[in-house]
Amino acid sequence: MALDAMRKDLVVGVVGAGAMGRGIAQVAAVGGCIVKLYDAKEDAAKEAQIFIQKMLNRNAEKGRMAQEDAEDAAARIEVVSSMSEFRESHCVIEAVVESLDVKRAVFKELESIVSSDCVIATNTSSLSVSTIAAACEKPSRVAGLHFFNPVPLMKLVEVIDGILTDPKVADFLMVLGRRLGRESVRVKDAPGFLVNQVGRGYNIEAAHIAMDGIADIEDIDRILRDAVGFRMGPFQLLDLTALDVTHPATELIYKQFYHEPRFRPATMLQMRLDAGLLGSKVGRGFYSYDEGKVQLVEEGIVPEYDGRAVWISKVIPEFFEKIRLIVENAGAPIDKGDIPDDESLILVTPLGDDATTASTDQGLDPNRTIAVDCLFGLEKRRTLMKTTITDPIFTASAHGLFGGGKVPATVIHDTPGFIAQRVVAAICNIGCSVAQQRTAAPEDIDKAVKLGLNYPKGPLEFGDFVGADKIVTILKNIYKLTGDPRYRLVPWLRRRAQLGVSLLTQEN
Ligand SMILES: NC(=O)c1ccc[n+]([C@@H]2O[C@H](COP(=O)([O-])OP(=O)(O)OC[C@H]3O[C@@H](n4cnc5c(N)ncnc54)[C@H](O)[C@@H]3O)[C@@H](O)[C@H]2O)c1
Repeated sequence: MALDAMRKDLVVGVVGAGAMGRGIAQVAAVGGCIVKLYDAKEDAAKEAQIFIQKMLNRNAEKGRMAQEDAEDAAARIEVVSSMSEFRESHCVIEAVVESLDVKRAVFKELESIVSSDCVIATNTSSLSVSTIAAACEKPSRVAGLHFFNPVPLMKLVEVIDGILTDPKVADFLMVLGRRLGRESVRVKDAPGFLVNQVGRGYNIEAAHIAMDGIADIEDIDRILRDAVGFRMGPFQLLDLTALDVTHPATELIYKQFYHEPRFRPATMLQMRLDAGLLGSKVGRGFYSYDEGKVQLVEEGIVPEYDGRAVWISKVIPEFFEKIRLIVENAGAPIDKGDIPDDESLILVTPLGDDATTASTDQGLDPNRTIAVDCLFGLEKRRTLMKTTITDPIFTASAHGLFGGGKVPATVIHDTPGFIAQRVVAAICNIGCSVAQQRTAAPEDIDKAVKLGLNYPKGPLEFGDFVGADKIVTILKNIYKLTGDPRYRLVPWLRRRAQLGVSLLTQEN
């Protein structure tokens, strides 16, 4: 059979009718495929079929599709009672529980049923496609087809080439993905594939920041939401995706990468998982939930700015200008001396350094020094960072000055790279490692991360937006201060920054 994902009578088998399988069946039926849906649990496939009918009807009621099309799509789904009914399928998509043993058993059985040219795809999110395929006599017909939850709403699908996948099989799935209304992105088999690999950068770095005692989780969420533009803070997101789903996947990715430090989970996550703080589904996670509604903590009161003069470091001239404008607009007097007067509030603007280092390196008084993150959030949420010994009077003065108007400000403890710089640099570095390892094409990395994770920018785009040279400075300085290899530069990033070219630049 020539693999033709657009043939009118394409028969798609779906194994597993849980959260993902039912979504896949729905989009396949809407895409005009004849769908056979099977689940090992009695009535599960039937229940899924009823659920899909409801979803399609609702879409028709809301005018998202014609009633007739909804009915036709529903009629294309047949519930089958055994996998032997997949005999005529051109493609089978597996979406059973995330267990290598269960998946390999399913694949073995499937191969004994379907024709020799039937494509078999797995929707696994964290297991290796190549490892699953190894259970098959013909691993060349096996590939990953990784949808996102909830399938009908998430417009992305990753098509994963296992080591032995016939490229024509993945080509077929690329077309099938588009037929199912998704944006198909081609990815090589790798731990976490593309999207889940980059996604670790966000929540792992945030969890390390919380564990380092830099800020509480509400403040970390606020900064990343307001200052960087993430739709959800990392802890809100962890609560939604549930720790019993996310943490084992994080651990698996870390293990599969042979303990690559960039993916090192934070120890508190396992403890919280053991304690049952799984997230919104159980009413308790990083936040508390009352009947499903998150209970947010009010922000503290902003102290009054005490009117003292403000001295601003000129080490990074563009940052000096940004801060000077804010300070002037707030009507605060500027200390224009080469060195600060005795009572002046001292502002430094580090990239990757902590406030203590910025202060001592410049020979300033750490008791009166506050660092301001000038890379992220000056217009939406400002981040102020104390040295270890900043006098509370000076902290309050800076807080009042920067947070007393329309833009809120958050004060955090000292860390190299503030919060936003740390997290964005970590995400960008991981994105560059995905590009470096040729797991996916640079443009696809950005596209997939925006569609699959709803990030405001893709990892490479983030780097180009703030300047790859700045990301390099942040990571170098954090690495210098911490000695932690998780911050070492990926060559893809370093070279492009050195050459002054976009992070999307492919090698000639
Ligand atoms: N939930 C997500 O956010 C998400 C996202 C992307 C990928 N995935 C992956 O999709 C797959 C399914 O996840 P889910 O969230 O739909 O799980 P789920 O628990 O909701 O559904 C799994 C279904 O598989 C059925 N099943 C178990 N063993 C079976 C077998 N041997 N034969 C047939 N059916 C069997 C179960 O009865 C259940 O209905 C997993 O590999 C998961 O990693 C999940």
